[in-house]
Amino acid sequence: MKTYIVEAPSNIAFLKYWGKANVDQQWPSGDSFSMTLNNAKTITRAQKSKANKDLVTIEGLTEGHRRAEKHLEKLRHLTGFKDHLVIESKNTFPAECGIASSASGMAALTIAALCAWTEAESFEDLQQHNFSREAVAHLARMGSGSAGRSLWGGFVHWQKGTEPSRQKLCQVYPPEKWQLCDLICVLSNKTKSVSSSGAHQAAWQSPLFPARLAVIPERLAMMRQAIEKKDLESLGTLLETEALEMHAVMMTGQPSVQYLSEKSIQFITWLREKRRQDGLPAWFTIDAGPNIHVICQSNQSVKIIEEIHARFNDIDIIEDYIGNGPQIKLTCD
Ligand code: DP6
Repeated sequence: MKTYIVEAPSNIAFLKYWGKANVDQQWPSGDSFSMTLNNAKTITRAQKSKANKDLVTIEGLTEGHRRAEKHLEKLRHLTGFKDHLVIESKNTFPAECGIASSASGMAALTIAALCAWTEAESFEDLQQHNFSREAVAHLARMGSGSAGRSLWGGFVHWQKGTEPSRQKLCQVYPPEKWQLCDLICVLSNKTKSVSSSGAHQAAWQSPLFPARLAVIPERLAMMRQAIEKKDLESLGTLLETEALEMHAVMMTGQPSVQYLSEKSIQFITWLREKRRQDGLPAWFTIDAGPNIHVICQSNQSVKIIEEIHARFNDIDIIEDYIGNGPQIKLTCD
């Protein structure tokens, strides 16, 4: 029996996808832009099932089974494949706490399911079956928007386009462009109380949301310019503004959603002070959870980890960096 093993990375959004213009078609309210990670990933095994239902095992996820089964159903509907699948999935990092497990999880599940259905052993084979990388990315984003960006390594752009069918996903720069690190500071690995899917819609009631949407194109252009120049101070300043703005929208939506904990605030206050006083070259971004992603150059990461641990000795840090994107392997037994 052929088993397809897919390793798909998570990604950290530099420009955040927050709010949906159309929920059914997973049409975001604005463009987003991310860096694909290397170590934080989902490993998913898929094979055709002899039973007439999917058998899904997702290690450590409470909500994961249901979402995965729903996504498989959707994929069958969108692609016309009929076979049920046996899926086993695990993460290299804590899930459902704002480290974008749905991004790597849905990317891995989508690729693995397509491989099992088409018997493709590589992205080139998938392309032969009319599933270009971008087509796979669009199927993945139907499971979770951010998953579409995990189909490539390096820096990835999800363009909203003028209508749902004109969305685009593409790699903007390969990973060699800039060896940035993401030190994922796990302040809490508890499951978040509100899933990001549930909270996206609350953004429309925030009085801050229209202003946020208006600024996205310019902010994206500035982020790209900072990456072109490898100007971490400019990029870092944009990252922090972006993350704080998204959390302000979350907190002022209806219902108000607060992902930041007291410890998150303590951490970012310390980081900013450390930068101001001692010139620590580190900036933060935060997704839909309390955990802090510290972005820095790879040659500074050891020193920055030491500084973090000297102040917060109980924090687990997942040391990650820009990665190459997903991989497909085949085993036969
Ligand atoms: C804060 O991709 O989890 O991580 O499409 O409903 O699954 P769904 O949402 P999801 O939202 C991600 C939000 C974010 C920002 C980002 O990754 O761009």
